[in-house]
Amino acid sequence: MTATESIHIKWDSSLYDNKHDFVFKYGEDLINLLQPKKDEHVLDLGCGTGYLSGVIAESGAVVSGIDSSADMILKAKETYPGINFSVQSATEFVSANSFDAIFSNAVLHWIKEKEQVIDCMFRNLKENGRLVLEMGGKRNVEGIIIALKETLLKYGFNKQAATEQWYFPSLSEYTGLLEQRGFRVTYAAHFNRETALNNTEHGIKDWIKMFGTTYLQDIGTVTLENVLTEVENKLRVTHFRDNKWFADYKRLRVVAVKNV
Ligand code: BEZ
Repeated sequence: MTATESIHIKWDSSLYDNKHDFVFKYGEDLINLLQPKKDEHVLDLGCGTGYLSGVIAESGAVVSGIDSSADMILKAKETYPGINFSVQSATEFVSANSFDAIFSNAVLHWIKEKEQVIDCMFRNLKENGRLVLEMGGKRNVEGIIIALKETLLKYGFNKQAATEQWYFPSLSEYTGLLEQRGFRVTYAAHFNRETALNNTEHGIKDWIKMFGTTYLQDIGTVTLENVLTEVENKLRVTHFRDNKWFADYKRLRVVAVKNV
């Protein structure tokens, strides 16, 4: 799930697999939209440790996976030796053959160079090839971000600009961009999906530590713990129930076809 051109986060593949596996577990549902077929060539863009590439390959499709994180790709190769994984950038990847389909789950919101990614996906698809994607949509994780920023400000850290680390477009903005750049959009939805986090006691803290690193730079360890505890207390009313923490995800799902 990682392909970071704009920001460079060092992903810990074990932490990702053990504590944040909900990212790719929810992605399994997206494979229903892809409907991979035997012998089709499918690219999993931002494949992370390869879990969804493995599920797609069960259909008999010939799967390739790319990710910008060498650590993730190493783990993917170890786990799925039959799949062709490589470290490549989402804005510049090249493949010897074009793909019947490109699949991308929870990755594109990490890449600020949105036009370049779209153009690159378009170039690497066959005529009538399809793009099936899910990413964070407008107002994704807004509750967490607001609580975190407010608390940081109280401690003297103004991190207003840090949200810019992600690209969470509205449905019309993203489908418009795809259309401008040559795709025909056949399906699009922007919906709430509250996402249960793995750690029942400190799920929100774990989430912020894993994904919110640009907010947490330059903050001492003691302050960090205090900030995270305050955020946790603030969010308990809205983001904790049935003994579980939830992230307020808003997903954008799109299917588009390359018709030239
Ligand atoms: C997401 O999948 O929506 C997401 C994950 C981590 C950080 C921000 C958004």
